[in-house]
Amino acid sequence: MNEELLQAAVLGLGYWGPNLARNFSASIDFRLSGLCDADPARLKSVAAFYPSAVPAETLDGLLAGKPDLVAIATPVASHCALARQCLEAGSNVLVEKPFTATVEEGEKLLALADTAGLKIFVDHTFLFTNAVEEIKRQFDAGNLGDLLYIDSVRINLGLFQPDVDVIWDLAPHDLSILHYILGRAPRTVSAMGTSHNPSGTVDVAYLHLDYGDGMTAHLHLSWLSPVKVRRMIFAGSKQSLIFDDLDQDAKIKLYDQGVAFDVTDLESRRQILVSYRKGDMRAPAIKANEAIAAEFSEIAAVLRGRGVSRASGHHGLASIRTLEAAIRSLRDSGRPVEL
Ligand SMILES: NC(=O)c1ccc[n+]([C@@H]2O[C@H](COP(=O)([O-])OP(=O)(O)OC[C@H]3O[C@@H](n4cnc5c(N)ncnc54)[C@H](O)[C@@H]3O)[C@@H](O)[C@H]2O)c1
Repeated sequence: MNEELLQAAVLGLGYWGPNLARNFSASIDFRLSGLCDADPARLKSVAAFYPSAVPAETLDGLLAGKPDLVAIATPVASHCALARQCLEAGSNVLVEKPFTATVEEGEKLLALADTAGLKIFVDHTFLFTNAVEEIKRQFDAGNLGDLLYIDSVRINLGLFQPDVDVIWDLAPHDLSILHYILGRAPRTVSAMGTSHNPSGTVDVAYLHLDYGDGMTAHLHLSWLSPVKVRRMIFAGSKQSLIFDDLDQDAKIKLYDQGVAFDVTDLESRRQILVSYRKGDMRAPAIKANEAIAAEFSEIAAVLRGRGVSRASGHHGLASIRTLEAAIRSLRDSGRPVEL
């Protein structure tokens, strides 16, 4: 049975918004019905590609078209006020990551959506990649065993943002992936970071997440690296998995390698026998997919009353809780902050 197309509008057409517009326009579930940017030149240049979408210079103008869903791709400081206006007008929202600038803002939006019977989605695009799906599959199947630690490096010569630091820009990707795979939040977070630019914005940072049971995650984030690295190591007791998002041939590698410790107490002396297991490395085939397209088809299903979203507002808020705690830690010389 053919279902009616859902009307989608995109608010904010800078760097990221046009990707959303392109995917709505190609979607079999949505019709791109409206476009909005406060900058008339941006609006005109993007709207030229989508003649059937109504251009609007204000959000009021965009909401007059009564879209089912508004995708908000503006700077984070504006997310809360713009999302509130959309919800109050009766539209569901897809908010860019990071969801909001504070936990309080996120909680208020979720309460408002709940009362209005509307949905909030947060664009954690990575969750819809086949690579992250494969990591989840391997973890859920127990193929990694117990996770010992996770180590992520997300560095490059970044786009300096006027309103956020490198933690708010890059860590949402890691935090969302970790939350999705582990299904739980860290107990504490510590953050260290430095600024090397005149604005004082932190451009190199290290986050340490402690899950309270020996499992830790370490995130290295930088806008100042001459090389681009997007690599996560999931070290497990059975196997370890490396996710290298830039390796087009082998995004995921599974290593059947590890260290075993045999502890023997010889009289009063402790002896530890270390043995190394050197097994195979395997790279499962990962089909490249357009993550935003997969995300939109899940959103459409949820809006039509089927299933739940893996990138709901509640999922987005979990990242904001960790980010807020990280900023408190950063201001307190890296002291662990409880969540
Ligand atoms: N999901 C991802 O992988 C991903 C990637 C990049 C950026 N983002 C997120 O997307 C959001 C936007 O980032 P960007 O790099 O595209 O920013 P940008 O500065 O390039 O673009 C923002 C656009 O929003 C417009 N705008 C701002 N306030 C407005 C308002 N009140 N009404 C109408 N238009 C308004 C600006 O004129 C600008 O064109 C951020 O939250 C960012 O974190 C997500």
